[in-house]
Amino acid sequence: MSDFLKGKRPTIVAHRGASGSAPENTLAAFRRALEIGATALELDVHCTADGQVVVMHDATVERTTDGSGAIAQMTLAQLQKLDAGAWRGAEFAGERVPTLAEVCRLARNRAFLFVEIKAEGIAAAVLDVLAAEKMEGQAILISFSADNIRRAKELRSDVATGLLTMQASDMDRLAALGADALCLHYPAATEELARALHAADRLLNVWTVNDPEEIRRMTKLGADFITTDYPEQGLAALAAG
Ligand code: G3P
Ligand code: CA
Repeated sequence: MSDFLKGKRPTIVAHRGASGSAPENTLAAFRRALEIGATALELDVHCTADGQVVVMHDATVERTTDGSGAIAQMTLAQLQKLDAGAWRGAEFAGERVPTLAEVCRLARNRAFLFVEIKAEGIAAAVLDVLAAEKMEGQAILISFSADNIRRAKELRSDVATGLLTMQASDMDRLAALGADALCLHYPAATEELARALHAADRLLNVWTVNDPEEIRRMTKLGADFITTDYPEQGLAALAAG
């Protein structure tokens, strides 16, 4: 496990970058999160028709760009013509859909990456990018798909992985999957669960926690990583204790 994952707790994870104040999953959102002082970034990835790993939450581009269509049916060149910032305000016009490689270059030696694999069958492509960017030790691959986790572990057992879920009972699946973290919808988190995970040498990541009171509660119950759209607020809540 990387030193970051073994380090000081809890850690604030900027969800899709500083997505509360900048267009999600763009370099503007990731830069803003770094400026705020976040040491971990969450991002979502898909593959284009020409096999490039790109950063976007949805499988289609309508909600967060001025284009239309499915990422899996577009080339990287087509995707990069789209505006991924204007929908959040004129000051963000011209933001592009980043590649995973671009986010790796921005984050290198500055922040740990929670890379959420959104599409099936792309774990190998994601690992290839992390390897090319020498970021395997600075990232955890997370997914709601057990198949994605299994595949990632088959290919690179040394790369950290986390299972995303709404259910605390999914803790029982971690060992069989070889996953390092349970990435849990925060209302389901309990102190008992955190204790059980730690006893099994696993980590607890909770998402998406935007209320400072809830951030403090998650801290007290033993969460290791707290994912939030508002990293500035999250860091302030931790500092206030
Ligand atoms: O980090 C977990 C969280 O991102 C999962 O939900 O829909 O925001 O990708 P979603
Ligand atoms: Ca996500």
